[in-house]
Amino acid sequence: MHAHLDKILINQVEIVERSKQLAKEISEKYAKTDKPLILVALLKGSVPFLAELMKHMSIDIEIDFMDVSSYGTNMESTRDIRILKDLDRSIKEHPIVIVEDIVDTGRTLQAVIKILDNKGAQSIEVVSLLDKPSRREVEVDVAYIGFEIPNEFVVGFGLDFAEKYRELPYIGILHKDFY
Ligand code: IMP
Repeated sequence: MHAHLDKILINQVEIVERSKQLAKEISEKYAKTDKPLILVALLKGSVPFLAELMKHMSIDIEIDFMDVSSYGTNMESTRDIRILKDLDRSIKEHPIVIVEDIVDTGRTLQAVIKILDNKGAQSIEVVSLLDKPSRREVEVDVAYIGFEIPNEFVVGFGLDFAEKYRELPYIGILHKDFY
């Protein structure tokens, strides 16, 4: 375990197993769409989860990325959401599943759903590796959730603190001395 962590909350095997189950559910739901499903991953935290999830999809999919401002290097979510990187292609009339690392206040997702809706997506659902329901400030429908977690600051498997710890292959609780 990384020395800056209090403990490992979710290990690599658990993440892989849960990703397989979620990929199966999503594949079944989108097996018969006229246009291919596009997984829209939110940079940078969702990259390892996207990679795990897409390996287990049994239908044709496409992927794209968006980067919106959220935490920066602070612990509090900014209220202003800016697009730092937009999608590369049109998503008009395509079914979309947004791939997120963690849903906290829900503000990032709320804003992204609105943006994708304005771009003419046929349908929009969300898959998130983690959910911290106790921190929710706005209501957002997350159709597929990997793990519900308590109100702790977690890092690893894409999640960072000040750009660190993203490479860890598990999710751990960061020790207070390090944030
Ligand atoms: P929301 O808009 O408050 O739901 O924030 C979602 C974003 O905040 C996530 O995509 C993460 O980048 C970040 N975030 C929220 N909680 C944590 C955490 O415990 N560790 C690392 N990043 C977090």
